[in-house]
Amino acid sequence: MQAGIIGSGNIGSAVARKLTGLGYRVVMANSRGPDSLADRAADIGIVPGTLEEAVRATDFVLLAIPEFAVAQLPVGLFSACPPDAVILDAGNYYPGVRDGQIAPIDAGMPDSVWVSERIGRPVLKMFNTIHANRIVESGVSKGTPGRICLPVAGDDPDMKAKAIQLAEAMGFDGLDAGTLADSWRQQPGTPVYCQHFGLDDTRRALADARREEVQAVRDDAMQRARQWAEDGAKVGVWNASS
Ligand SMILES: NC(=O)c1ccc[n+]([C@@H]2O[C@H](COP(=O)([O-])OP(=O)(O)OC[C@H]3O[C@@H](n4cnc5c(N)ncnc54)[C@H](OP(=O)(O)O)[C@@H]3O)[C@@H](O)[C@H]2O)c1
Repeated sequence: MQAGIIGSGNIGSAVARKLTGLGYRVVMANSRGPDSLADRAADIGIVPGTLEEAVRATDFVLLAIPEFAVAQLPVGLFSACPPDAVILDAGNYYPGVRDGQIAPIDAGMPDSVWVSERIGRPVLKMFNTIHANRIVESGVSKGTPGRICLPVAGDDPDMKAKAIQLAEAMGFDGLDAGTLADSWRQQPGTPVYCQHFGLDDTRRALADARREEVQAVRDDAMQRARQWAEDGAKVGVWNASS
């Protein structure tokens, strides 16, 4: 079993840890090159690689990089990716400070539709709704109360079935969340986003999403997070000088 992961940060490392635990050979790549991944190799058991080596994995290739970085990937990178490999996109678009402005998404294109168009391959949106630490810590056997559900949106039923099987193997319920065009239902600002719901509540939250509200709710959450960080910094300054 082979997986490639682009991105060695929070989400890439968390998924990598679960995959190596399941027996996958995981080739991981980042922007700084294989030499920067020696610590991940020792800790998680990944194989450090180049971007080109990561996309050659036969089973899964995970994009675990900020949205702006998708536009920086080499043109044609995914031509080396086997046609049957399932490409998973864990990304979320946070406009402004982190991701800048991506005009098609600002105009309403779902994040992962844009990613799919950029890389020239179908993708499934998966792992974007769960905090990285919960991927490592919260997997439990099927039927355990509180088991977290991972929605999987995309257009190819066979690929979705493989991704849902992967979720199950990692200790989560997997749910077919519709087409990639429907994937806005699990983006930042939706009722399901980072709530770590079980299967029934995930299904309900996806259905409850209101497209016209998503961007405003996301932007409001970003504003509150900025304010919280600023207030925290002020408290830190006050504490330091008192
Ligand atoms: N953190 C979470 O809990 C979480 C949960 C769900 C979804 N997500 C989403 O997943 C994405 C990644 O989040 P994260 O928290 O894992 O970010 P992160 O910890 O900042 O890691 C980002 C990774 O992307 C790599 N990268 C950046 N530009 C690249 C490029 N041009 N080519 C190759 N690799 C590149 C970085 O490599 P270098 O270190 O070499 O620069 C780094 O390994 C975001 O869209 C985020 O919203 C995050």
